[in-house]
Amino acid sequence: MDKREEKVFFDIHKDLPREGPGNFESTERAYNSIKKYLNKPMILDIGCGPGMQTIDLLKISDGNVTAIDKHQPYIRLLKQKIVNGGYKDRAKAQLGNMFNLGFDKETFDLIWCESAIYTIGFEKGLIEFGKYLKRYGFMAVTEVCWLTNMKSKEVQEFWNTEYPQIKSVEENLNLVQKSGYEIIDHFVLSSNAWMNDYYFPLKQRLDLLKLKYKSDPQAMNVITLHEREMEIFEKYNSDYGYVFFIIRKSLLNNF
Ligand SMILES: C[S@@+](CC[C@H](N)C(=O)[O-])C[C@H]1O[C@@H](n2cnc3c(N)ncnc32)[C@H](O)[C@@H]1O
Repeated sequence: MDKREEKVFFDIHKDLPREGPGNFESTERAYNSIKKYLNKPMILDIGCGPGMQTIDLLKISDGNVTAIDKHQPYIRLLKQKIVNGGYKDRAKAQLGNMFNLGFDKETFDLIWCESAIYTIGFEKGLIEFGKYLKRYGFMAVTEVCWLTNMKSKEVQEFWNTEYPQIKSVEENLNLVQKSGYEIIDHFVLSSNAWMNDYYFPLKQRLDLLKLKYKSDPQAMNVITLHEREMEIFEKYNSDYGYVFFIIRKSLLNNF
């Protein structure tokens, strides 16, 4: 993306409630699968974006949450949400880079990462993030996965361009175990988590920006790419989806 496209990208993505598929129900379900093991956990939310899941975690847990993202406007926005929600004593949002988190090793009881691990790569993220988990600590992470072996050519071509590292659920479960984690639970996010919580507000934004940018082909191209992503999901949402993996650092790992 050049500078101009990046500007349009953030014009689209500014102030959306969330920056990827997800919803309260899936965050809560993932947290509930490990709640009984946790007491005032230290939680790290990586790639928090505008922080919808950060605030949801604060609502459903009694933990302390540190949320990091590399994009300053998201951090600014989340800081405000933390103050407005009355969570200042249990939460902080700060700039950070998932490639170099810079915390002391084995600091956190739980690492959370919704729709962001793809940036570093699922396997690399498991290893890299795991260094900051205490012994037997937990990780809850979403990753886009193939849900079938019978994919049509069009959807394969789309993902080969967008994210060629996409794997099946089974392949990712194998990677989880190979990387030194036990699997606690995993589940596919509902299509509501895409359509209602992410694509609906995104589509409203695109419709507005199509008017603003109607005589700017480069900007319109960025908009069209977003529309194409939504169209592919509408057509092929049984072929792929986001999967929540809830996993635990096991005795065997040696990060
Ligand atoms: C698809 S968004 C998901 C945001 C949020 N978790 C959500 O579900 O709404 C991915 C986020 O990762 C952040 N990100 C990208 N590269 C990063 C990096 N190297 N370190 C930290 N955050 C990064 C982006 O700024 C963006 O907010």
